[in-house]
Amino acid sequence: MIRILLIGNGAREHVLAEAVVNSRHRPRLFSYMKANNPGIAGLSAGSAVGPYGDLEGIGRFCRDKGIDFAVIGPEDPLNSGVVDYLGTLGIPSMGPTKSLARLETSKTFTRNLLEKYGIPGNPRFRVFRADEGLESFIGELDEVVVKPDGLTGGKGVLVQGDHFRDRGEALDLCRAVLKEHGSVIVEEKLEGEEFSLQCLCDGKTVVATPPVQDHKRRFVGDRGPNTGGMGSYSAEDHLLPFLKKEDVDAGLRITEAVADALHRETGEYYKGVMYGGFIITRNGVRLLEYNARFGDPEAMNILPLLKTDFVDVCRAVIDGTLHLLDVAFEAEATVCKYVVPRGYGLPADHPDARSTAAKIEVGDVKGARLYYSSVDQRSDGLYMSTSRAIGVVGIAGTLEKAERIAEEAISAIRGPVDHRPDIGTKPLLERRIRHMEKIRSGSGA
Ligand code: GLY
Repeated sequence: MIRILLIGNGAREHVLAEAVVNSRHRPRLFSYMKANNPGIAGLSAGSAVGPYGDLEGIGRFCRDKGIDFAVIGPEDPLNSGVVDYLGTLGIPSMGPTKSLARLETSKTFTRNLLEKYGIPGNPRFRVFRADEGLESFIGELDEVVVKPDGLTGGKGVLVQGDHFRDRGEALDLCRAVLKEHGSVIVEEKLEGEEFSLQCLCDGKTVVATPPVQDHKRRFVGDRGPNTGGMGSYSAEDHLLPFLKKEDVDAGLRITEAVADALHRETGEYYKGVMYGGFIITRNGVRLLEYNARFGDPEAMNILPLLKTDFVDVCRAVIDGTLHLLDVAFEAEATVCKYVVPRGYGLPADHPDARSTAAKIEVGDVKGARLYYSSVDQRSDGLYMSTSRAIGVVGIAGTLEKAERIAEEAISAIRGPVDHRPDIGTKPLLERRIRHMEKIRSGSGA
């Protein structure tokens, strides 16, 4: 019997856990979590709670349980070098080594890699380690994005128009980032529609999963602060209403070239997920960033559609035999909406900010799938904590039906919760289509 370790404790890992336990191989799942997730623990033959940096603790857990291979959910354990450490114990992983995970953990590394190997997709950018030349480069760009290097929990990227107003403020921010981090990346701001392309990679072969669009803003109409993601959708034709096949192909070609460049640069084969955050601009597809893992929420859109056995996918990634596997997905649409505490994303002094640790009740969610994130199962019921609580996923033949399934399920979740009712709805999709038409025709944002 195969014994698999899953690292991570969010809704992304809950759907990964489901994919593992649904395997025809009937594996035994063991989970290592930063905080207990009752959804994952309920699917596991054994679980442990501890910090992702405790490599020896994770190693001991693996030895005790006789783990055959590991699936790494979030970026933090990748950055801690868990794949390298487990490798020394003879345990392979679905996830890249620390050096290869720089694809996500170092924005400088990735921008420079694309440039060095002549891979298209970079915006105009420069990395600064000192003030010299900063002001004049900012002056060359219409609008500016300022990025620190390293993991910033999705909160490090500063965008003109959202986080600051003009070039003067951009310069001040760059200087502050330089002082704190020792380097700063300055990029041109790109205008267009974004899509997430999560690709499986064994180091040589890259396989794209259906594209997904995430919604980062907290409130309806893409207003409010950025979050980890309030929800996402994918379409039954494995495109998106504003996305053409050639856009997806462009994202895949970039990712294939990056996988090859990673091998040439490091001598190692990248084994895991290369999740490209792409944007379609009037000049074509550009890379915003890579993540070295599945997206959260985007994993909840694609894993329930996977027709190929997930354990076979992991094995093919680890063994370098992805070219031999037919990775197929159901032709269905998905809409994922996160149920969050009403206070999620609000300033601490807001009256609703206290709703975070409240109790919630889950009624009959009919055909929807629920994936737990930051929730705690206590003797008297289910409690939210400070972050996204439950990913609710509707799956159907059309986006309209999938959206309705998700909404009906959410109406059965009671407590001081909130969500984005607009995700996956016709008006929002039409807005995306109109926006993209304007961008492609060159008539502006
Ligand atoms: N959906 C954003 C992320 O997973 O980073």
